[in-house]
Amino acid sequence: MEVQIAPSILSADFGRLADEVAAVGDADWIHVDVMDNHFVPNLTLGLPVVHSVLKHTALPVDCHLMIADPDRWATSYAEAGARNVTFHAEAAHAPIRLARDLRAAGARAGLALKPATPVEPFADLLPEIDMLLVMTVEPGFGGQPFLDVVLPKVRRARELVRDGNHAVWVQVDGGVDEQTIDRCAEAGADVFVAGSAVYGADDPAEVVRRLRQSASAVADSAWWAHA
Ligand code: DX5
Ligand code: ZN
Repeated sequence: MEVQIAPSILSADFGRLADEVAAVGDADWIHVDVMDNHFVPNLTLGLPVVHSVLKHTALPVDCHLMIADPDRWATSYAEAGARNVTFHAEAAHAPIRLARDLRAAGARAGLALKPATPVEPFADLLPEIDMLLVMTVEPGFGGQPFLDVVLPKVRRARELVRDGNHAVWVQVDGGVDEQTIDRCAEAGADVFVAGSAVYGADDPAEVVRRLRQSASAVADSAWWAHA
């Protein structure tokens, strides 16, 4: 079962962003956390930095928008060249229209759920999206402890995807490291964001390899693998 690793540059050295992005060249995605200090209590970066990241990597860019009013802003990230754009279910006013706009702009459409947001109300939206992001910390900061309490929701998300035969990836983000990634893969995740685990290490590329190896081993024989 194919798994994908998406290092989050939130924990990178922003002053050396091109080098930091190059340090994880074996990854599947570069995960870019956009925060606006409204939807979450933190401010990070926006379109100009996404443009710079795109210039310095051949990897596809995965934008995770933790912003109010994604209906207004998300499509510009797709138009800039982000291969995936994820917006939060709690923030979107018209998620179906927005997902269609993102796809029309050439990106994959991702829908993110905060830890306390149930997945079931979004079951009928699965044909409209390409990835479901189940947050495993409260969005806003890197380096927070993993929330095991969210794992049953990862499992339910995978069941909905499998039972409906949807081509939707299940992504986890927050507190994912070598200790927690197996639990995520077992529950049904196939795309793994890791920030501090990767950029806090002396050899980020080696951590990416180890994370991929662990997750693949679990996913290969997981209950959801051969649906
Ligand atoms: C948190 C962000 C994450 C963050 C994860 O709101 O969405 O992508 O970078 O960082 P770690 O892996 O350190 O929990
Ligand atoms: Zn993120």
